[in-house]
Amino acid sequence: MSITSPSKVPRHTAIIMDGNGRWAKERGWPRLMGHEQGAGNVETICEACINEGVEYLTLYAFSTENWRRPTHEVAGLMLLLERFLSEKVAMMNKNGVRLAAIGRIADLPGPARKRLEQAIEETAHNTRLTLTLALNYGGRDEIVDAVRSIATEVLKRTLEPDQITAKTITDHLYTRMMPDPDLLIRTSGEMRISNFLLWQLSYTEIHVTRKLWPDFGAEDLHTAILDYGSRERRYGASVENLGNLEKVS
Ligand code: FPP
Repeated sequence: MSITSPSKVPRHTAIIMDGNGRWAKERGWPRLMGHEQGAGNVETICEACINEGVEYLTLYAFSTENWRRPTHEVAGLMLLLERFLSEKVAMMNKNGVRLAAIGRIADLPGPARKRLEQAIEETAHNTRLTLTLALNYGGRDEIVDAVRSIATEVLKRTLEPDQITAKTITDHLYTRMMPDPDLLIRTSGEMRISNFLLWQLSYTEIHVTRKLWPDFGAEDLHTAILDYGSRERRYGASVENLGNLEKVS
């Protein structure tokens, strides 16, 4: 495969992995088989991200809204998560992948939560790619949690209300240890953010592909990265004033 090297690589790529259900339906299979195929695709995309030079990959794996799915689908997704975590730690350690998680992790079912904590610990020394799974994640809940923690500091008088800036909020989000995403990819064609990283996506470039998540491969990632490289990021500045970007926080 001959691949053009992209001029700019998105240091942080986030993905809304949509279309597992449709992928299964196209084959007359149960939805869970689509999720299983989708979980398998995570390894392919992790390795592709490493080859492209991406440093942070954040995947929307289970939203707070996903609890509304049929009980057997939710249970199946939790089992898939446990299996993914048990089976993929070796791959992560081989490839230098450090696992992280964002969301209301304490509310995940016990076995999945314990397996997750274990996998995070077992991969903590890796430095090539940070793979963050958004689990029981909702962007509005994340902002609510940040506001609660800021309010607690104000009540304790360790923070004054007029000291609160955009950076204070950034520093209280689940993602405080990572840069904002440069590129958001959404598979299966929908043009929505779906309550994902609401604060962090303010200046993120968005690439939507009609490919369903289980079919989204290394070449599709490369296409998305080339698309990203062709964009001119202005962060709200005019074309004439691009030189002033360093003044924008
Ligand atoms: C959307 O497909 C996808 C999800 C509900 C979450 C993504 C889950 C996985 C890729 C599998 C588990 C992941 C890991 C890391 C173990 P959909 O069912 O909404 O698809 P549809 O829109 O075609 O119905």
